[in-house]
Amino acid sequence: MTQDLAPSVRPAADASRQADGWWRSAVIYQVYVRSFADSDGDGIGDLRGIRQRLPYLAGLGVDALWLTPFYASPQADGGYDVADYRAVDPLFGELSDADDLVREAHRLGLRVIVDIVPNHTSDRHAWFEAALADRSEGAARERYHFRPGRGPSGELPPNDWESVFGGPAWTRTTDADGTPGEWYLHLFAPEQPDLNWDNAEVRAEFESVLRFWLDLGVDGFRIDVAHGMVKAPGLPDIGRTEQAKLIGAQVLPFFDQDGVHEIHRAWRRLLDSYPGQRIGVAEAWAPTSERLALYVRPDELHQAFNFQFLTCDWGARPMREVIDESLAATLSVGAPTTWVLSNHDVVRHATRYGAGDGELGLRRARAAALLMLALPGSVYVYQGEELGLPEVVDLPDEVRQDPAFFRGDGQDGTRDGCRVPLPWSGGQAPFGFGPGGSWLPQPEAWAALSVEAQSGDPRSTLELYRSAMALRRELPGLGDGEMTWLDAPEGVLAFSRPGFVCTLNTLDGEATLPVPGRPVLATEALEFSGGTVRIPANTCVWWAV
Ligand code: NOJ
Repeated sequence: MTQDLAPSVRPAADASRQADGWWRSAVIYQVYVRSFADSDGDGIGDLRGIRQRLPYLAGLGVDALWLTPFYASPQADGGYDVADYRAVDPLFGELSDADDLVREAHRLGLRVIVDIVPNHTSDRHAWFEAALADRSEGAARERYHFRPGRGPSGELPPNDWESVFGGPAWTRTTDADGTPGEWYLHLFAPEQPDLNWDNAEVRAEFESVLRFWLDLGVDGFRIDVAHGMVKAPGLPDIGRTEQAKLIGAQVLPFFDQDGVHEIHRAWRRLLDSYPGQRIGVAEAWAPTSERLALYVRPDELHQAFNFQFLTCDWGARPMREVIDESLAATLSVGAPTTWVLSNHDVVRHATRYGAGDGELGLRRARAAALLMLALPGSVYVYQGEELGLPEVVDLPDEVRQDPAFFRGDGQDGTRDGCRVPLPWSGGQAPFGFGPGGSWLPQPEAWAALSVEAQSGDPRSTLELYRSAMALRRELPGLGDGEMTWLDAPEGVLAFSRPGFVCTLNTLDGEATLPVPGRPVLATEALEFSGGTVRIPANTCVWWAV
């Protein structure tokens, strides 16, 4: 018998989860602002566009949004180069639009987290402009890392650090008289000079910026490069090239230094001084789950992105290992684990999991989504994954904007392919994204993937996400809490939570199991016979028990 699973669920607010801290079980939806929805027809998403689409997000069943940077910025790195932390870039609207957006989101029961970029400013930030205008070793330069060069005439960078985007992490300045001057540090693009967090003014300014947005009503911050603000004293050489490969694999003199924790502690005190459970989320790359857990100790941040889960290969064994490690590490400090499959910096998982086979990739992506939403803790959903969007792999070079692409040998330069604007409706680009075009071209095939095309189709990825999130609210065993692994054949993951079982077949062939309960959601149709169920290849099933 083939059973069609059309779940009927009712939304239910779970008061006990709220009491424990809303973030511990939250599904947080990442809005990549320039690609979500465009209200004014310039082809670039904006804050009003997001506000107009809030009912969609509320209906999807997420608890909160994380908005990527919308601050005044020359956009050298998609807004992660901030020129004024208290102003909205005209591309995205005005401060009143941010205010309206937060209010409307709250009215709909959605919380709002904004990005904060403390490791570096834009090179057009007033501080950096003052630093450039300053004479060597002047006070304005102390907010950044300026150093004389090495070599007889200072023609070599002060140390051997490389930019994450490729090339040296130092750029030489030119003095007012036209002669070459000091160098400044930028772990990312040259337009993103690193701040010196030993400088008291830098610390005070960021506390003031946090207060500015907290006063406006935001529910927290996603902290960009939360592992990077503190550099090892003396800025020592690393002694090898291809340093990007070491990120997340070892402590570096510029990443995951112990000194960053003191900053996060200070920020936690500030967050706690506001009513309403405001949170801090670390974008931190640490070499081990244990070191990552340090960022979410009780007096530090609330959550850290679990990139080990994101980078884990498809397969029961590697996935189980990462899940165990992640849970053990966060449990040791009492923090909730987070789960994330995609974001604006990585190849979308519908493509990643397929290794060239789009159908396989989507099938696994759907299964991975159910796995993630069943695990204990909080989940991050990247816009468009609920539509099963693939990476756009054939963008012409002339439309690309990612600085990593232009700087070559750092990251692989593929970050534009996951940032293509969302398809909302209609048969032609820009598929309802806005009244104009879209800043990156959308594939024609996305007509079939639009929100409109998928809505109401029980087999669609969008309806799968809707059902899963509704069930996640309804079933008390989901969200934060415990899980227990169950015996399962090789290649299959099975675990229980109170009143619930999740089974994931990661194999390319079907798996047969004893029926563990009443099926409530599955990514493919199941076959039952006697007391067993045949779970097709690359399929995840949720069971009520
Ligand atoms: C991490 C952000 O997610 C990425 O988009 C950005 O380029 C770097 N941090 C630098 O701010």
